[in-house]
Amino acid sequence: MKVTGGEGGKILALKIAKYLDTEYIDTLSRTFPDGEIYVRVMGSVKGEDVILVQSMGKKPNKLLIEYLLIADTLKDLGARNIIAVIPYLPYARQDARFNPGEAVSIKTVSKLIEKVGVSAVITVDMHLHRFKSIQAIFSVPAYNLSAMSLLAEYTASEFGLSKPLVAGPDEEAEQWAKIAANALQSDYLVLGKTRRGDYEVEIRGKSLAVVQARDVLIVDDIISTGGTMAKAVEALKTAGAKRILAACTHPLLIEDALYKVLSAGAEAVVGTDTVPSPISFVSVAPLIASFLKETVL
Ligand code: R5P
Repeated sequence: MKVTGGEGGKILALKIAKYLDTEYIDTLSRTFPDGEIYVRVMGSVKGEDVILVQSMGKKPNKLLIEYLLIADTLKDLGARNIIAVIPYLPYARQDARFNPGEAVSIKTVSKLIEKVGVSAVITVDMHLHRFKSIQAIFSVPAYNLSAMSLLAEYTASEFGLSKPLVAGPDEEAEQWAKIAANALQSDYLVLGKTRRGDYEVEIRGKSLAVVQARDVLIVDDIISTGGTMAKAVEALKTAGAKRILAACTHPLLIEDALYKVLSAGAEAVVGTDTVPSPISFVSVAPLIASFLKETVL
C-alpha cells in the first residue's frame, strides 16, 4: 500500500501516509505554456494498492485533469487497485438540469473520476441534495465521510461554547446541522434560502425568537462567495443571537468571502483542510486515515 497525491492533495496525502505508517510517493506536475498539464509519478507502484489523494477546490478543472492523468498513469505503471480520495469533490452543486439543456455536471465528473480505473472513491461532506447518497452517483464503492462532528467539537471547545444552538443557513444544510447538534448534544434550526445569483442570496427564518441571547454555531458544507453565510449571520444577529460562530467543511473562500462573513458579525469562521485556507484549523487527515484503516484496507 502506498499513498500519493496531486497538487490538490499532497499535504493531506503526506499526513494520511504518516497515520497509516506507509510510504508516500511524490508526483510532479506543471503547466505548459499552452495550458496543458504534465504529470510524473516519482516512484514505483507496480503491484501496489495506491491511495491517490486529490482535493479539487479553487482550481477544479485543472485539478480534475491532473487527477485523471495521475490515476491513469498509476494504472499504466502497474498499480493493482487505486483508491481515489477526493476530500472536496467539485461540481456537486450542479446535480440536476435546472433549465433545459444544462449539463448535470456531477454525473459527468463522477463518470470521469471512476472511468480511469479506480476501485473506490472517498470524499468528505459532499454536497448531496438532489442525489440522496453518493452511491447514487458512482458505480464503484463510494464513501462520503463527514467532518461536521469534528468541526463542531473543535469550534465549541476553542471558543468556549456550551451547548450552542446550531443553525443551518438553508434547507440543504439540515443534514450538517443535525450532525453538529448531535455532536454537541444541542438543538438546531434551519433557515431558508433563495438564490438570486452567484453572489446574491436571501435568507429567511421562521420563529427566530428562539435564538435570543443564545450562542449560535452556523454550519454549512461550503463557503464559496460567503453570501449564504454572511446573510445567515445577519439574520441571526438581527434576531438577537449573543455570539455567532461559523464553520464549514470546505472553505473555498472566493474573493472577500471571509471578510464578508466576519463583517456581518461572526466572531470567527472555522474550516477544514479539504481546501487549504487561512481558517483550515481542523484536519480531515485522521478521519480519512481511520476510515481507510477500518473499512477499505
Ligand atoms: C449550497 O447550498 C451550499 O451548501 C452552500 O450554501 C453554498 O455553496 C455557499 O455558497 P456561497 O458562499 O457562494 O453563498
